[in-house]
Order: sequence, then C-alpha cells, then structure tokens
Amino acid sequence: MTETFLDKAYDTTGIEATRDLYTSWAASYEAEVSQNGYATPRRCAEALSAFTTDFAAPILDFGCGTGLSGLALSLAGFRTIDGMDLTQDMLDRAAQKQLYRSLSLSDPTAPFPVRSGAYAAISAIGVIGSGAAPIDVFDMLLGVLDPSGKFVLSFNDHTLEDPAFETRLYDSVANGTARLLGESYGDHLPGINMKSKVYVLEKT
Ligand SMILES: C[S@@+](CC[C@H](N)C(=O)[O-])C[C@H]1O[C@@H](n2cnc3c(N)ncnc32)[C@H](O)[C@@H]1O
Repeated sequence: MTETFLDKAYDTTGIEATRDLYTSWAASYEAEVSQNGYATPRRCAEALSAFTTDFAAPILDFGCGTGLSGLALSLAGFRTIDGMDLTQDMLDRAAQKQLYRSLSLSDPTAPFPVRSGAYAAISAIGVIGSGAAPIDVFDMLLGVLDPSGKFVLSFNDHTLEDPAFETRLYDSVANGTARLLGESYGDHLPGINMKSKVYVLEKT
C-alpha cells in the first residue's frame, strides 16, 4: 500500500524535515485531510468565537498552512487574519484563498517578529505537536499576547500521547500565565479515526 503524507507526518522531527514534508505535501494536503473529514479548524474557530466580542481585531493564524484554518476563522466571523508559516509552498496556496490581510514566512532560528500586543488572538491549529512545531512554540505565542489576549490551539491524539505537550499547557495555567477558558476533545480526522483536543486560553 502506498504511504500517504498523513502516515509520514507524525514521525517527522526537526525544522528542515518538517519544512521538507510540508513542501512536498503542499499540492495534495487539502485533498488528503479533507477526504478524512478534517474537523479541527472549525472546532477551533467556533471555540474561539465563543470568547470573542470584537471580530475585526487582528488575529494571527500561526502555522496557517494552505489556509484551511484561516478559512474556518473567516467562516466563524473573524475579519482581520494574518497568516504565518514555515513553508513557502503552503503559504502560496493560502494566498490563493485571498482571505488573509498578510502572509509571512516564519524562521524558527530568528527572533519571533511579532511585537507584544499586536494581536488580540492567536491560533495554532494542527501546528504544535508530533510532526510539526515543538512545544517551545507554545510559550513563544503565549508570550506575545497582552493580558486578556486569547490563544486557541489543538493537540491531536499523537501529540497527546506525549505528556510533555499538555503538561506545558497546564503548567501555564497553574503558574498563572494563562487561564483555561475551554477545552474539548472531538473529531480531528474521523476518516482515520483520529481525534484532537481544542483549548482556548486567555493570557492573564
Ligand atoms: C498540519 S498543518 C496545519 C495547517 C493549518 N493550520 C490547517 O489547519 O490546515 C501544519 C503547518 O504548520 C507549519 N509548521 C510546522 N512547524 C512550524 C513552525 N515551527 N513554525 C511555523 N509553522 C510551522 C507547517 O509548515 C504546516 O503548514
């Protein structure tokens, strides 16, 4: 049987290997995840919208990929969405959706180019975890939110198997850096029977 990108994704580690994976996957990513019923972007966008009053305030869709997460945010009512991603080929596809205010390539080896308070909310939908960005990205994103800024993110089943990811999130709540507004476990890629947890945090 031919190995799909989804089969390969969860074993990938490191910046170069992750960029190579998504560069090769860019053309078929949407078809493959859509065939499997990719549900996490809608779940994240709806969870964040429940804690949002100003839908015009800027939101950063970190790890925006081809823009499926931006599309879900847009459908949930968010109107000012900037996208950022590690992989130019994914960004090129996001640009075709014409729903982002701006799109930029991120360089994990350089200082994070986002000033504190620039965004009312940040999303990292399907971005942090095995086969994608390391857990330090969680602290980096939380770190640029001002108090009351919101952070929506997801961890899939593979990521939840490694307690380091959830531990870091719950530590941020326990040490008073963030408040957990909501958490729910549900469909991620039902076609391969994978679920994810969606969290909404508020910076304190
Ligand atoms: C599974 S895709 C999710 C894309 C999009 N958010 C969605 O829901 O369809 C993961 C994305 O994270 C990006 N990514 C992985 N590691 C990253 C990092 N360290 N910084 C920024 N983006 C990263 C990849 O290039 C890829 O586009």
